[in-house]
Amino acid sequence: ATISSQAEKDCRSITPPYEKLQKKLEEVRAILNRPLTLAEKMLYSHVIDPNKSFSGGGTIRGEAYLQLNPQRVAMQDASAQMALLQFMSAGLDRCAVPTSIHCDHLIQALEGADADLNRSIITNQEVFDFLESAARKYGIEFWRPGSGIIHQIVLENYAAPGMLMLGTDSHTPNAGGLGMLAIGVGGADAVDAMTGTSWELKAPNIIGIKLIGELNGWATTKDLILHLAGKLTVRGGTGSILEYFGSGVSSQSCTGLATIANMGAEVGATTSTFPYSANMRAYLQATGRSAVAAAADQAASQGFLRADEGAEYDDVVEINLSELEPTINGPFTPDLATPLSKFKGFVEKQGWNDTFSAALIGSCTNSSYEDMTRVADLAKQAGDAGLTSKVPFLCTPGSEQIRATMERDQITPKLESVGALVLANACGPCIGQWKRTDNPSEENAILTSFNRNFKSRNDGNNKTMNFLASPTVVTAMAFSGKLSFNPQTDSLTLPSGKLFKFTPPNGKDLPSAGFTLGDLSYYPPPMPDPQPEVEIVVKEDSQRLELLKPFSSHFGPHNSRGLELPALKVLLRVRGKCTTDHISAAGPWLKYKGHLTNISENLLITATNDESGEMNVAFDKDTNSQGTVPEVAKRFKSRQQPWSLIVDENYGEGSAREHAALQPRFYGCAMILARSFARIHETNLKKQGVLPLWFVEKSDYLKISSGDVLETVGLADVFDGKPDAQVSVRVIKADGTAFEIATKHTMSADQLKWLRAGSALNHIRSTRN
Ligand code: F3S
Repeated sequence: ATISSQAEKDCRSITPPYEKLQKKLEEVRAILNRPLTLAEKMLYSHVIDPNKSFSGGGTIRGEAYLQLNPQRVAMQDASAQMALLQFMSAGLDRCAVPTSIHCDHLIQALEGADADLNRSIITNQEVFDFLESAARKYGIEFWRPGSGIIHQIVLENYAAPGMLMLGTDSHTPNAGGLGMLAIGVGGADAVDAMTGTSWELKAPNIIGIKLIGELNGWATTKDLILHLAGKLTVRGGTGSILEYFGSGVSSQSCTGLATIANMGAEVGATTSTFPYSANMRAYLQATGRSAVAAAADQAASQGFLRADEGAEYDDVVEINLSELEPTINGPFTPDLATPLSKFKGFVEKQGWNDTFSAALIGSCTNSSYEDMTRVADLAKQAGDAGLTSKVPFLCTPGSEQIRATMERDQITPKLESVGALVLANACGPCIGQWKRTDNPSEENAILTSFNRNFKSRNDGNNKTMNFLASPTVVTAMAFSGKLSFNPQTDSLTLPSGKLFKFTPPNGKDLPSAGFTLGDLSYYPPPMPDPQPEVEIVVKEDSQRLELLKPFSSHFGPHNSRGLELPALKVLLRVRGKCTTDHISAAGPWLKYKGHLTNISENLLITATNDESGEMNVAFDKDTNSQGTVPEVAKRFKSRQQPWSLIVDENYGEGSAREHAALQPRFYGCAMILARSFARIHETNLKKQGVLPLWFVEKSDYLKISSGDVLETVGLADVFDGKPDAQVSVRVIKADGTAFEIATKHTMSADQLKWLRAGSALNHIRSTRN
């Protein structure tokens, strides 16, 4: 069944509770007593207890830890697996907040939409069956394969000005295009929101991005964020929210703003956001959410959806849109920005071949109606002149709604007539799900309208140089096949010998006939009731999925040390940088994201053993032998020997990947003693029932070796209601000598309950059943 125009949606679960939020904000104002930026207003109004989070005012940004109540969760099919497995072990019968699952990452691009979709559904059937059955059981909105890419669907259906949402994908901030705070997190954080546990975030700094002037000619919002990435670099937004303001914001379409917010992830920003605008209202109305628009209008009239007069930013970057020109970023890093007019010289200087091998448009970053109409305008100009694409030209629509509207409005036929292949509504080549038939293994270049261009990301070939550009620049260049072609100034020679030059593309931000929904079977009912009788499908012999068995508590009759941890054997002293990637490698291991036993085979395989200087080597002093880290960890587990790690500075930096905490715990890790921890990973360890301790004297790190036995001293006092009691560690060496070293802990009262229960989810299960 299809319907030809967008119907009004049930907006009950997507309209932010503006009155409640504004009331909360008043409590915050009473403490902080200063003008607030827009991002601060949105974030702080979701704080659970202002008195606790702001404890009397002072410096908040970059210092305070906020306990928040997000309003919604969205998960993509790859990361949803472990998030759901964890949620299941909490023993709840429904999610505490509206949640959606989107099947988009596992669809491989090869022949075209239908064939690719059918093939990928068969290949990944067990994962999709699992996700769907879990969705039905817990009342989660399930967007099946082919429905579209998570961020486009969220923008079309769930995003709302002022909302705080979490998504288990780094480009979740895309929804910021609708003036909200959408933050990409790991599965364990999503589970916090899904179980109704407070979600913790260090209050970000706020970087103001002032936009003045107007975009013109070929320049688009993609060029703005490509330019900004060049200015800020991949680290420039770390720990910060990018808050845009100025006269140049309101003239941009909502989907154009979403492109900017989407790629804020490329500069490391927590998220990006914009003040509510007439274009946001128009987009809400065009996508069946007039009720949200009306509520947002009212909240905006009370000043909620914009910054206070006089609000201060930690830094301000000003960009004049009138001076902005199309920009191409890459290769291999999204912050290597080159203006289009200088790109030819840049390519020549590097000595690269002038040709490129494929042009790809779409993805969650750039598949809006506006993008597609502008691209279709170029395709028509070229087609009328008798040109076709010189290179494979692939287009990924972001959603079924976009695909169906493109077809109805003759966009797809225009693209196909010049040689484009329209792929399934999914991530496809953007996430490496691209089976190239030309399969170049040598150095080659591709042009994409995507957001990331790390080595090997698209086709697995680390010599493929991915240059990021706007969809219009990618499309125009596809008709030349040359990196040196600048469609703003250069002409192409037609078979007749005449010259052809593109005129700057025109597009429409919204379809005049409204959006068409397309195949209605893709749309889940809003707020489905949980069906507790549904059995979650996980095959006994599955290699990709495994139900999580709750971790047992370290305390109880089996532990003769009472409320101290049992005696722990040191498995490894890790040297230097140890990110979540070192702890749980990605790449080929991604297929085991839903199978803790299988993925744990990668535990710390790229970490360096400080005692031997080697990677993936651990010593088993009990048998006077050595093995890989997973091998020795497995031996400890089979001996029921709980163990500990000694680690260096900033242990667990990098990402919120919960596997990096789950895997050591799975093999029996009970404590990690560090020179310092990355905060998110430290919290993830606590959630899984691992005690993180900090050396008071960092030099003590060298006093502990593998095979030593560690005993906590003083933990029982902390459990006993003395949170500030000193916890030290008694080290017993192989020759029987012993000494004590001082440590610090950062456990809150709630986190102590998690440790006692064996994990946060065990604790939730025990309190709610
Ligand atoms: Fe998918 Fe690529 Fe976006 S992987 S979510 S289309 S960044």
